[in-house]
Amino acid sequence: MDKIRIRGGNTLSGEIPISGAKNATLPLMIASMLSDETLTLRNVPRLADVQLLNRILGNHGVDMSVDGKRHGSTGLAGDTVHLTARQIVDTTAPYELVSKMRASFWVLGPLIARCGIAKVSLPGGCAIGTRPVDLHLMGLEALGAQIEVEGGYVVASAPKGLSGARINFPKVSVGATHNVLMAATLAKGQTVLENAAREPEIGDVAECLNKMGAKISGIGTSTLTIDGVSRLNGATHQVLPDRIETGTYAMAVAMTGGEVSLTGARSDLLECLFPVMEQVGAKMTETSHGITVSRNGQGLAPVDVDTSPYPGFPTDLQAQLMGLMTKANGTSRIRETIFENRFMHVQELVRLGADISLDGDTALVTGVDRLQGAQVMATDLRASVSLVIAGLAAEGDTFVNRVYHLDRGFEQLEKKLSACGAEIERVSA
Ligand code: EPZ
Repeated sequence: MDKIRIRGGNTLSGEIPISGAKNATLPLMIASMLSDETLTLRNVPRLADVQLLNRILGNHGVDMSVDGKRHGSTGLAGDTVHLTARQIVDTTAPYELVSKMRASFWVLGPLIARCGIAKVSLPGGCAIGTRPVDLHLMGLEALGAQIEVEGGYVVASAPKGLSGARINFPKVSVGATHNVLMAATLAKGQTVLENAAREPEIGDVAECLNKMGAKISGIGTSTLTIDGVSRLNGATHQVLPDRIETGTYAMAVAMTGGEVSLTGARSDLLECLFPVMEQVGAKMTETSHGITVSRNGQGLAPVDVDTSPYPGFPTDLQAQLMGLMTKANGTSRIRETIFENRFMHVQELVRLGADISLDGDTALVTGVDRLQGAQVMATDLRASVSLVIAGLAAEGDTFVNRVYHLDRGFEQLEKKLSACGAEIERVSA
């Protein structure tokens, strides 16, 4: 199995192109199931999750074709992907596929909306928490779906179609918002989603759905109003830039020092990160091409950060911030409020010499003078990349095992970093 080898100590300078957002691409691909016409997505990142979702959607009858270089490609930009669900040939999403990628559970809403019937495996547990799907089911039931859970599967039907409803989510959920939003586009009458997630990826999907003929208003707010339509058409949509990839490279630069231009990045998607980075001692500047990040001379200052739903500090950057704070001059407090078990990187960072103690949902990270390279591994992609950030500042070689986690969510990570001067490569074990 491949590993990533990093020899720490180099500063980063140059340019890193920011890819399309994974967490918008996946629901956008799923949204193609709502129409029998072609949905064209531009700026799709080349990720293992995109390929896996392609297989999952293919099982339902969605045809996907790709323009642009893929095999052996050296370009760092994404592809254009065409998805056509002329006919849904299978309304079952089997355990073997859904258990490999949780987001594929989101086919439930589109399947019921388009076919009136769906059987989708429950996704099961996961490395970062229990991650129930009760809010997805509550929302779809409110739209009139009859739902039973049998043998590990959600079996849903809406023989007379879905009808609009007012739904107030008791907790903010990105996935439940996507699932119910997609279903509501084809429901009869009006649906109002209150306390909907406001993550920019949801806005991106809603905008794409409107291009497909949906009638969604309130985009970007926590109240989405959807006036159902009888069918959706094809459309062309450009995936928004990945704010988590942007934040990850910003922290890598803060860690190593130097100056990197994150081209294509959008500062409006990451407003919460600017004050945190300023406190850390790194400079983030909006430019006409994206965001430039730099840190010169001074060391890193500690921070006190809680994760929270958008527009708060994202849980998907918590591990990376912790990686960065392992070298701060003082003790940082980082509290994870979204997932109860998203600290799997802590023990691996400790293997590199970090000083971190956990107290429930809070990590206290006391910066150390030296990190030392070691063999490490992690159980999810953000945790894995936090080890890369630490490895960039560690003495000697760090080997990050289980590279497939990184390949799920970071397009050409080692190429992007090595183009800016990092000594990083993929090696066969
Ligand atoms: C999405 O996951 C993202 N995944 C995650 O990205 C991200 O960490 C998360 O949102 C939070 O921002 C994709 O976009 C593909 P949630 P999702 O439903 O939708 C609880 C990454 O690294 N909850 O917003 O599964 C849940 O347990 C990842 O790219 C319920 O209680 O997250 C959690 O505590 C991993 N009942 C909280 O809500 C439900 O029915 C937020 O989860 C659903 C969720």
